[in-house]
Amino acid sequence: MRRTHNNGELHKSHIGQTVVLAGWIHRRRDHGGLIFIDLRDRSGLVQVVFNVDNKELHKIAESLRPEYVVFISGKVTERAAEAVNKKIPTGEIEVVAENLEILNTSKTPPFEIADSTAEPDEMLRLKYRYIDLRKDKMRENLIFRHKIIKAMSNYLDKEGFLEIETPFLTKSTPEGARDFLVPARLNPGKFYALPQSPQLFKQLLMVAGMEKYYQVARCFRDEDLRADRQLEFTQLDIEMSFVEENDIINMIEGLMKQTVDKISLPIKRFSWEEAMLRYGCDKPDTRFGLELVDISDLVKNVEFKVFRSVVESGGIVKAINAKGASTFSRTDLDKLEVLAKSFGAKGLAWLVVEADSVKSPIAKFLKKEELDEILKALKAETGDVLFFAADKFEVANQVLAAVRLELGNKLNLIKKDEFHFLWVTDFPLFEYSETEKRFVSRHHPFTAPHGSWDDIEERFAKDPRAIKAQAYDFVLNGVELGGGSIRIHRMDIQRKIFKLLGFSEEEAKRRFGFLLEALEYGAPPHGGIALGLDRLVMMLAGMDSIRDVIAFPKTQSAICPLTGAPDVVDPKQLKEIHIKAV
Ligand code: AMO
Ligand code: AMP
Repeated sequence: MRRTHNNGELHKSHIGQTVVLAGWIHRRRDHGGLIFIDLRDRSGLVQVVFNVDNKELHKIAESLRPEYVVFISGKVTERAAEAVNKKIPTGEIEVVAENLEILNTSKTPPFEIADSTAEPDEMLRLKYRYIDLRKDKMRENLIFRHKIIKAMSNYLDKEGFLEIETPFLTKSTPEGARDFLVPARLNPGKFYALPQSPQLFKQLLMVAGMEKYYQVARCFRDEDLRADRQLEFTQLDIEMSFVEENDIINMIEGLMKQTVDKISLPIKRFSWEEAMLRYGCDKPDTRFGLELVDISDLVKNVEFKVFRSVVESGGIVKAINAKGASTFSRTDLDKLEVLAKSFGAKGLAWLVVEADSVKSPIAKFLKKEELDEILKALKAETGDVLFFAADKFEVANQVLAAVRLELGNKLNLIKKDEFHFLWVTDFPLFEYSETEKRFVSRHHPFTAPHGSWDDIEERFAKDPRAIKAQAYDFVLNGVELGGGSIRIHRMDIQRKIFKLLGFSEEEAKRRFGFLLEALEYGAPPHGGIALGLDRLVMMLAGMDSIRDVIAFPKTQSAICPLTGAPDVVDPKQLKEIHIKAV
């Protein structure tokens, strides 16, 4: 190697040495006699000086432009005290150039790399991603991602896990999203599905006796994109045999402790019921309070018809106390109502607590004792504003969970530098789908129920909602980082669950017959989990979008501005795979 050092690693101990460096011209400052270059490589920056004494070299240096690629050799020298740059690690030294070789030139980049404050349009950033990735922040993110994955792999290797790859061209997996389909040229009219996760294969690996499996696995889901969702994303996927729920949870806690310094064990656990009761959602952000209070009992007889009738018909009324929000204007209150309605609310009643009275559109419908009870339940004091949602369980919770987050932001209550990891356990095994008019799996259909398995049909007939799952979600600051479950390892029970979910015998056999069959050949008890790596890295790196921790992501509208994908294809290609575009 001609290059002797990485730029960012040079420091005082190298003074006097002659070094050969490589990299890109980050900045060039021309001070007449002296030309200063910030030379960048992956490790960082170092300042290079070209003296006018060396006329020939100085002349070449004058021709340098941002992003030219060069070899530079020179002597490491100490900077004068007043010239020390404390902002960069190499700021105490500089390299006095003795030789310069231009390896390549560069067109003027479409946006500044050296200026970290200018944030170009995302389309432009993604079109020229290879330039965008030259920025410090982006490079740091990719290095950080590598380190996290490496630390996790090392830990799992030490714990006896095997990394095993599973197919991309496979059959549809049931994670609840839409599949990406791949036409099978050799089998006209048939399709592979790209895996939504390695779920079924990792279970088969347990049947195969692998005992402890992991994979840094790419998953594909054809869903609408958001800041924390991509069409293809990466899971740290794990499965273990002969384990119970606590074993998986403890293993992940050990793994996280090894990987992340911002974590203290044990991680707090919430049952799903407690999470719903206190926060109205199954991935609560506990960096701030503003907990919800169920006041259904207190309002079931009030004159306000909305509250009364909702409770009568089996719904709930919940409230939240926005401490000190009486400074909110009428417009603020109206905006919150609009937000609530976007989450399905029919309204968002509010109540401002003043010194000796209250101000509220619903006050006239409440007797003094009723009002006092409500104020007490919400620990309301002068200056507070209460918000109410009356609706079906799911809607009321969803609405107030969204209002709570908005209030947390508006009132500046969220401690942005804190990391609140938590587990949510004891999810319902089933949930009712309004669109399909039947019960569906909340997690996936291989999740084991809590309690006895053999009478699962009787339990379902009695109260499907009461059956809890041996499932757990891993949450950080209100974002779902991962989820998993103990699986059903008995064919007879798995078959019953398919039946309860409304799969006909034929359909269960067609879609998952291979799994059912495998369960008949000595399947051990097993369970696992998958962590969303993009989300984890995003949050630990303090980014707002997973696109900032993925080298080549898609835009929100699911395109790749760099390659132009998705694109039309040659009619000949379509013909080969027996597809007609309409
Ligand atoms: P699940 O579907 O909950 O579980 O996925 C696990 C984790 O993957 C992340 N994730 C995503 N990240 C980015 N973009 C997406 N579109 C996306 N979808 C999911 C989330 C989520 O928590 N097979 C089961 C796991 C198991 O049971 O072991 C599964 O895939 O962080
Ligand atoms: P109305 O009597 O419809 O004018 O409503 C009086 C107040 O109750 C308004 O502030 C509405 O936003 C609110 N409201 C209406 N329906 C609901 C509901 N289902 N949950 C909570 N507040 C509601």
